Amino acid sequence: MADANPFQDPQRFERRVPPCAVVIFGANGDLTKRKLVPSLYRLAIERRLPQGFAIVGTSRTPMSDEAFREKMEASVREHLENSHFDEAVWEEFARGLYYVAGDLASPELYTALTARLATVSEERQTGGNILFYLSTQPSQYATVARGLAGLAKGNGWRRLVVEKPFGHDDQSARELEVALHEYFTEDQLYRIDHYLGKETVQNILAFRFGNPIFEPLWNRQYIDHVQITAAESIGVEGRGAYYQEAGALRDMIQNHLLQVLSTVAMEPSAVFEPTAVRDERAKLLRSIRPLKPADVDAHAVAGQYGPAAIGGKDVPGFRGEPGVNPQAMTDTYAAVTFLVDNWRWAGVPFYVRSGKRMPKRVTDIAIRFRPVPHSLFANESARPNLLILRIQPEEGISLRFSSKQPGSGMNLRPVSMDFNYGTSFGMRTPTAYETLLVDAMAGDPTLYTRQDMVEASWAAVQPIVDAWGNRTGPDPFPNYAAGTWGPAASDEMLAARGHVWRVP
Ligand code: BG6
Repeated sequence: MADANPFQDPQRFERRVPPCAVVIFGANGDLTKRKLVPSLYRLAIERRLPQGFAIVGTSRTPMSDEAFREKMEASVREHLENSHFDEAVWEEFARGLYYVAGDLASPELYTALTARLATVSEERQTGGNILFYLSTQPSQYATVARGLAGLAKGNGWRRLVVEKPFGHDDQSARELEVALHEYFTEDQLYRIDHYLGKETVQNILAFRFGNPIFEPLWNRQYIDHVQITAAESIGVEGRGAYYQEAGALRDMIQNHLLQVLSTVAMEPSAVFEPTAVRDERAKLLRSIRPLKPADVDAHAVAGQYGPAAIGGKDVPGFRGEPGVNPQAMTDTYAAVTFLVDNWRWAGVPFYVRSGKRMPKRVTDIAIRFRPVPHSLFANESARPNLLILRIQPEEGISLRFSSKQPGSGMNLRPVSMDFNYGTSFGMRTPTAYETLLVDAMAGDPTLYTRQDMVEASWAAVQPIVDAWGNRTGPDPFPNYAAGTWGPAASDEMLAARGHVWRVP
């Protein structure tokens, strides 16, 4: 068909991974063990990796290929999540695992890596294609990019996946960009935000743009406000040193939750194509109103958990966690009211919150519709409609509406219509890292962030970062007990607009 839209070709949606080698910097780190290698192994189990495939791990610790394989086997067994460990698949997968030790700042590492990649390409027939994955300390990103200068081009494609955080603030994000661009072109750079790869986050686009009944309501005329919650019951789990410099605003809101917000609020793109989709996301992020310093207190709340007994067990406060400064001013909870200055959303608050040591692990988006314009029922029992997009651990969508209670009289009660992934599809949903790794290897950056998106997200939170960094006055922390829903000030922030946080 001469006029077929190339971006709507169904072939495009069946990802084929070409032969390639994945080089992981930070191969001894947590992400490699918990996510990267287990995800690649699950892809192997599902026969989604090509014959010509290899992984080359690198970190400072000296280790043989064999020792690396054993270490990865233990991690994969531990972190497989609902998948069965298949010995035969592992055997084949492990043959393609290699390891090179070295110091990221030393040229010898890159010389050794170049030599090893040449033999690996030969042995495993990877066609010279290489996906570099940066999972080191962020302060090393520029060093590695420089080290890779000689490998950034060659036979086959070369791409660089960069883990978050992209900078510590707006300025360092721009500096990082300049450093990466010295050696890699924009189309080689894949900035990963794993929330964009979650099935349930991708499904927001399907829900909005694949169902004509919701989109007409998706605006300020029908939506009263939106609440985005990402609560974690865990504390900082041995990441105290990183986390005390980051905090919840930088760790979760600046990236993951603003990406979720952009998915909920963006305009439809004309085609499902990387540039078009990312242009819309970027446009939305740029529409978020930057706060004036004097407005920060009314729009943003920081919290830090104190010690508590949870389920009969004593849990330390953040300042008592290993590796954390006992005077740390870190926000382990952050809540922000974002306003989106465009025609669709003018005046609709987007309340976003995230915290560690909350009562449970839950991520969801609650869209509260406006109340009925005129109540027919004397007892005012019609509650506003609520649409809940459940991201995790439950995955699904619920719509709350009012229904007549059986019996005489006209009493209304909220009931809900529920869609649940597990029961509807009855299959395992791929994890975000599986999806995103396949996309990067297949060369599709649709679900990766772009520098303009990164910068727009920093612009949205930078006034808060600055205000919190320059705090004066008495120490406000801790201001919530571990195992609770955060500080009272967060409830007050919503109360000022006549709203309350939903208990997820
Ligand atoms: C990471 C943060 O990016 O996302 C962690 O650094 C957080 O602090 C994690 O725990 C949450 O991811 P998920 O997929 O478990 O919601």
